[in-house]
Amino acid sequence: MTTTITFTMIKPGSVADGHTGDILAMIGQGGFEIRAMKKVQLSKKQAESFYAVHSERPFFSSLVTSMSAGPVVAAILEKENAVEAYRQFIGATNPADAAEGTIRKKFGKSIEANAVHGSDSDENAKIEADFFFSQLERS
Ligand code: CMP
Repeated sequence: MTTTITFTMIKPGSVADGHTGDILAMIGQGGFEIRAMKKVQLSKKQAESFYAVHSERPFFSSLVTSMSAGPVVAAILEKENAVEAYRQFIGATNPADAAEGTIRKKFGKSIEANAVHGSDSDENAKIEADFFFSQLERS
């Protein structure tokens, strides 16, 4: 059985609303193992850099503002087929389209304030994990 990693962030709105504990509990119940975790406030520049792939999208400025409005909880998760498993687990980008029982259905407020981020490929999982965590910070 091959395990892989994915990267997640609990977004500022969900952290501010006090949902961090409930979301981490769901992640654990979903069989994801936390390999690294930290609570950190992104600067606007750091949020722009993290979401650079979306820089031409009309929602980019608003996304950067919301993602740097307060601390996020960032984590590296491990599971078999972690990227795809976690994408299923959190639900569709727009909480209105997310399946019942998913994190975004339960805690998402809008397509932008959608509770959590999850990597969309193994390649991006590595890039995003490296963005937040040194080797020393991982188990
Ligand atoms: P996330 O998984 O963090 O990846 C990119 C983010 O951009 C996404 O979640 C949403 O928060 C945001 N996003 C994607 N599409 C839209 C949209 N149409 N309008 C506003 N925000 C969006």
